[in-house]
Amino acid sequence: GKAAFGLFSGDNGENPFPLFAQMRATGSVIPIPFPMGETDRQAWMVTRMEEAMQVLKDHTRFTVDLNAVDGNSDIRQTFSVDADPSAPPVFFNGKSMLSVDDPDHRRLRRLVSKAFTPRYMESLRPRVQEIADELLDRVQDQGEMDLVKDYAYPLPINVICDMLGVPRADRAQIQVWSDAIARGLGLGRREPGVAEHMRAFGEYTAQLVADKRQHPADDLISQLIAIEEEGDRLSEDELLSMITLLIFAGHETTSNLIATGTLMLLDHPEQLEKLKADLSLVPSAVEELLRFNGPATIAGPRMDTEDIELAGQPIKKGDVVIPVLKSANRDERHFTQPEELDITRTMHRHLAFGHGIHMCLGAPLARVEGDIAFTTLLRRMPNLRLRIPCESVTWHFTLSSQGLAALPVAF
Ligand code: HEM
Repeated sequence: GKAAFGLFSGDNGENPFPLFAQMRATGSVIPIPFPMGETDRQAWMVTRMEEAMQVLKDHTRFTVDLNAVDGNSDIRQTFSVDADPSAPPVFFNGKSMLSVDDPDHRRLRRLVSKAFTPRYMESLRPRVQEIADELLDRVQDQGEMDLVKDYAYPLPINVICDMLGVPRADRAQIQVWSDAIARGLGLGRREPGVAEHMRAFGEYTAQLVADKRQHPADDLISQLIAIEEEGDRLSEDELLSMITLLIFAGHETTSNLIATGTLMLLDHPEQLEKLKADLSLVPSAVEELLRFNGPATIAGPRMDTEDIELAGQPIKKGDVVIPVLKSANRDERHFTQPEELDITRTMHRHLAFGHGIHMCLGAPLARVEGDIAFTTLLRRMPNLRLRIPCESVTWHFTLSSQGLAALPVAF
């Protein structure tokens, strides 16, 4: 499985786009060595927009349930985690909306969908603004910062933890766990210590739920507990999986949008100047940054549940199909000059948040956070610049994404 791993590391990891362009030119459905272990099962990468959407839309044929086809314990080993069965569930090994299709998916997603509507998100703006300003207040006088550590990372984690009702004092620890889990898991990669971090994250969450059962508050966790206690809509396993999914999905990706997006802008000075000259372009810039180099490299792997053809390529029942979002987002069949960053681009669609029933629940939140993060940064620090050459920044690779380890800037 070396080749598959190579897609997400080394030079290809830092700049996978030339490789993706080659793959798209070869075909839309590209066989890759199965990422881990011996099997006669085939894995496929889906590189073009049309077929990537087709896979994501058709959740009956291409299910997120990797146990859907018999005898596939090899798949489970590859893509999920054999955590200690005595440990409390977290979403990787438990049952979250991301790992089931309908009817369970609809039931689980509905329980929280009201908390993530664009309208509700608008009401969060003042709080998000306050967090952004507080973070920049702390570094303003220094004239420099690590944009990842000082801004991109703490902003989203504080927003999602505020919504859920996670105490402030615990957030640094949560960050350590979720970083360790995100970096310890990947296609064909499993680092030691991940199971321990998952156990700790799960035990913490279970304790937090127990505390909130005693002392409910005006937050999302308390609302979910009330639903669970009502009866048959949410089990304890699902409750813990839901909370850990929201914490995890709610910050890692958005941090990467802010940090990678800032780097992309600094690397395209003419675009940055255009944006600074008219900050009302920020929402459109956020969409373009999501398209151009969004946080998620791939959507979760899907299992094909019947023998079919996709773009003329026969695919066998039980094969694994992986939509490559970053490649679809540069599909020359779909976008004009896809390799150019153009913050004023008019776009019908990109796949940075996925598509279909699993399309990102948090997209409206991520958009609000991105809007406020870039607007506040550029308004307060208009002469923002890199302190090291663009080529020297250090990337790290997470579960299905790519982010910056640090981004030293001056202002
Ligand atoms: C699902 C990307 C921010 C919560 C997804 C998926 C993608 C994605 C690609 C679909 C995965 C698949 O189909 O396999 C992103 C990006 C973000 C972001 C690029 C930031 C820029 C957030 C935030 C939250 C969140 C802020 C807040 C809680 C979720 C949840 C799902 C999801 C719960 C599962 C939805 C379902 O299965 O129905 N995200 N996400 N995400 N995201 Fe996000």
